[in-house]
Parts: sequence; structure tokens; C-alpha cells
Amino acid sequence: MATRVDDDGRPMRTGTWVTASAHIITAVIGSGVLSLAWAIAQLGWVAGPATLIIFSLVTLFTSTLLADAYRHLDPVTGQRNYTYMDAVRTHLGGVKVRLCGLAQYANLVGVTVGYTITASICMGSVRRNKCLHAEDNCHVSTTIYMIIFCCIQLILCQVPNFHKLSWISILAAVMSITYSFIGLGLSVAKVAAGAEATTTWPTVSEAQRLWKIFQAIGNIAFAYAYSTVLIEIQDTLKSSPAENKTMKRASFVGISTTTIFYLLCGCVGYAAFGEDAPGDLLSGFHQSLWLLIVANVSVAIHLIGAYQVFAQPIFSLVESSCRQRWPEVKFVTADHQITIPFLGGTGFHVNCFRLVWRSAYVAVTTVLAMLLPFFNVFMALIGAASFWPLTVYFAIEMYIARAKLPKFSFSWMGLQALSMACLLVSLVAAAGSVEGLIQSLKVYHPFKN
Ligand SMILES: *[C@@H]1O[C@H](CO)[C@@H](O)[C@H](O)[C@H]1NC(C)=O
Repeated sequence: MATRVDDDGRPMRTGTWVTASAHIITAVIGSGVLSLAWAIAQLGWVAGPATLIIFSLVTLFTSTLLADAYRHLDPVTGQRNYTYMDAVRTHLGGVKVRLCGLAQYANLVGVTVGYTITASICMGSVRRNKCLHAEDNCHVSTTIYMIIFCCIQLILCQVPNFHKLSWISILAAVMSITYSFIGLGLSVAKVAAGAEATTTWPTVSEAQRLWKIFQAIGNIAFAYAYSTVLIEIQDTLKSSPAENKTMKRASFVGISTTTIFYLLCGCVGYAAFGEDAPGDLLSGFHQSLWLLIVANVSVAIHLIGAYQVFAQPIFSLVESSCRQRWPEVKFVTADHQITIPFLGGTGFHVNCFRLVWRSAYVAVTTVLAMLLPFFNVFMALIGAASFWPLTVYFAIEMYIARAKLPKFSFSWMGLQALSMACLLVSLVAAAGSVEGLIQSLKVYHPFKN
């Protein structure tokens, strides 16, 4: 079997701007889209959409900077770096590499745990919706759904690399568009039915209002977080046209699609519910049972795919460092070929280490999800704290190093000002989520939600 290789000796990459956009939409839209009506309700009609648009522009800008960091010096012939951390090591070096790694992998691990929780809540609410219609008081435990999610991931996580995940990503992107449309449609119907959305501020103290505004800013900032996987996505692209061009195009398509959805779902949801917009848009509707079931199932399928998009960089980091450390150990390096009947006879590579470690990872995230049902608030903290370093700081610093911008030049000052403004946003959002975390710890019961 002739395997074609790229300039760096790795198997030929085949990704295009379509697959990259699908990865981006899958990674970005997340179920965060369903909380945007809540976020916009906290910020109001002017500041809400404005914040969304500002964050989309900032993300678009910094992601074009990041796309140029993939190849060193020359965008066509320069040497590749395969991960965010490698790019930071090449351009900046020193302690920043560690900090970048810490922020990136804490974020990735956090996202996988958070998605396990959200997916199981969604699967649970399919059942809850059904039984709410049958009887009045029904309790649905999410633990069983976490176990189902875990079993699905145990199978999917054996897909060897990002590269081979495109079909899952495309499916997940379609799912996210599906449930966004359903949320949108139900909100439109509610507005059309003349729902009595309250337009007065709810009776909460000024301090509480401020915390909520902070949390809302955090939600919006976090709704665009995909810099953690940007370079890894770029590493799936074929090399002609140049990867950075393709990636910029994919970022533009991905981010503008996402922003349109965010604006629609956020604003229409706010129009439908007013100040009472629920944290999860779908949970606010009680009619249209079938649509809600379809929507929740799509969220769950989307999260199944998104889990993989975020877990693959963790898998490959651990696997490549183990291969480097123990090149002699067969358990770690040997690939066993297994041919599965009916699957075209192409064969299927099994690696014992991959089988064991990835299964263990999935199991651990599931247990964490069961232990920490309030984890999503914690996730908001990780998201807020990593927004600035990952989306803004390293992207800008790498650009400054690459372009050799003189200190205190005009563009240098502009970039630093942008960076400082985003740092402020990150701090404010982190403060909001710490407050939220304190509130949820007050009502903490493990294994129950
Ligand atoms: C990243 O790029 C630099 C500069 O070309 C190169 O020296 C380094 O080996 C690359 N790192 C990896 C892990 O490929």
C-alpha cells in the first residue's frame, strides 16, 4: 500500500477549508449558544450584541495572527509546528511555554469534563420532557446518561487522530446548526404568540446585577474559545493552497457563521423571555415536545463530537511524549493490524497503550463529571482565566516576535492596548465566575443534580 507523505514525512494531510470550518464550528458554537439569551439579557439590547460583535472581531483578528504561527518564517516552506505549545516555544521560549501548556491543557481537560455533564443533562431532559407530560413530579438522574456518554466516547476515542475525525466534526456542526435553529424557531413562535416578556429589571440588588454582568461577559468571551485547538486544526490541512491562507478563510467562515447564530439565538431568545431568559434556552420551553426532543438529542450528538475535538490534542500530547520517552517499549509503540470484516478490508490499527490510556482518560472524566455536578461554573472560571492568555496574549506576543515590531512603535502600542483591554475582560469574568462558584458550593451534593 503506497502511503503518500507530506514535506515533513507525516501521512498526507487532506483537510480543506470546509473540514477546517466544520472543526471550528463544532469547537466554537458549543452548547454555549444556548446560554447567550441569558447573557444578552444581563447586558441589554445595546451592550449585549455589541459585546458579541467585539469579541468575534477580536477572535477573528487574533486567529489570523495564530494561523501565521504554524510555519516558521515562510508560510509555504517554513518548518511546521504541530501544537500551540510548540509554536510558543519557537517564537517566545522560556517559562511562557509552560504557562501556555498549563492554560491550554487545563482548558481542554475542563472542556471534556464540562461536555460530559452538559451532554448528560441534555439526554436526561429528553426523558424529563416526556415524563413531565405524563405525571407531575419526575426525577431523572443524569448519572445513567453520563455512563452512556462514556461508553460512546470509549469507542470514538480509538479514532487514531484528528485527521480521521472530519466526519464526526461535520456531523456535529450540522447538529449545532439544527438545535440553534430549533431554539430560534421556538423563540420566534413565543414572540409571535405575544409572550409577556418582562421588560423591567428583576428585583435583585445592584451588587448581584454587577456579578451577573461580569458572568455574562465571561460567557460571551468564552463562547469564541477555539484558539486552544486552532493550530491542531491547521495541522490537518493539505499544503496547497498554503495552510495559513486556508485557515484564515476557515476562521472567517467559522466565526461569521457562529456570530450570526449567536446574534440570532441570543437576541430572539431575549425578545422571547425578556429578563427571565433561562441559562439554557431550551429549558424555557414547555410546548412542542418533539422539537425539544430533537433539539436536545442534537445537543448531545454535537457534544459527543466536540468532546473528541477537544480530547484529541490531549491524547496526542501524551502519546507522542510517551513514544519519545520509551521508544523501545512495544506496549507503547507497536501497532497491531486487525482486519474487521465488512469494513472494506482496509484494516484497523490497534495500539495497546492507546487503548488503555484513552479509555482511562474517558473513565476519569466521567467520574469527575459525576463528582462535580456544578463543574460548569468551574468551567466558566477556567474559560475566563484562559481567554486572555490563549486567545489574545500569546497570539499577539508571537506576532510581535515574528514581525520584530520595535517597542513603543505605533502598532506595538495598539496591540498592547488590545491585550490589556482583554486582560481586564478576563479578570472581570473570572471574578464573576468565582462568585458563581461560591454560590453553587453552598448547595453542593455530590452525585446529585
Ligand atoms: C517548531 O519550529 C521550529 C522552527 O522551525 C523548529 O526548530 C522546531 O523543531 C519545531 N518544533 C516541532 C516540535 O516540530
